[in-house]
Amino acid sequence: MVLVSGSGTNLQALMDAAADDAYGARIVAVGADRDGIEGLARARRAGLPTFVAKVGDHPARSGWDHALCAAIADHRPDLVVSAGFMKILGPEVLGAFTVVNTHPALLPAFPGAHAVPDALAYGVRVTGCTVHLVDAGVDTGPVIAQEAVPVYEADDEGALHERIKTVERRLLVEVVGRMAREGWTVTGRHVRLGAAER
Ligand code: GRF
Repeated sequence: MVLVSGSGTNLQALMDAAADDAYGARIVAVGADRDGIEGLARARRAGLPTFVAKVGDHPARSGWDHALCAAIADHRPDLVVSAGFMKILGPEVLGAFTVVNTHPALLPAFPGAHAVPDALAYGVRVTGCTVHLVDAGVDTGPVIAQEAVPVYEADDEGALHERIKTVERRLLVEVVGRMAREGWTVTGRHVRLGAAER
């Protein structure tokens, strides 16, 4: 199960990888918090089940959390991947599923929805991407994998984000594949892939 809010290039990378049976994971459905996005169009073109759970359709956030949890549960995923999903997941979803998120910075640096412009504004020479388990905080869950990406003088947000996304897509595909094939264990803030209970 993959959750998206935008262009869905991370989703596309997962779809491309899952086309190979040896990858060991398949995408059972794609969910979004809004309609009319390329991420949903990509899923629908591939014939994948999709759903939209809008926060605004519920008087309270807890109602959205409940509806999203039910929509995800309908597909009985082993793993939920948040790939550019731009909402903070609630306690019901997080209590029911393991969620992996990809973030375009080297957490704990630059959490939140503006990681790439924040890194540019700060003037870092190196940033990167992080694949992590989602906990109740904003981009605070245990880190699974990270990779550094250089920042160049001439970079604007688009150039830097694209350089990060090139790495991010590869890292996410690698991590999700290993989790699906080998399982994982979590000890405190440490995630170990392989040889374990789900
Ligand atoms: C990714 O960089 C993700 O880390 C961030 O938003 C971007 C989503 O890109 N949250 P896409 O929708 O997968 O193309």
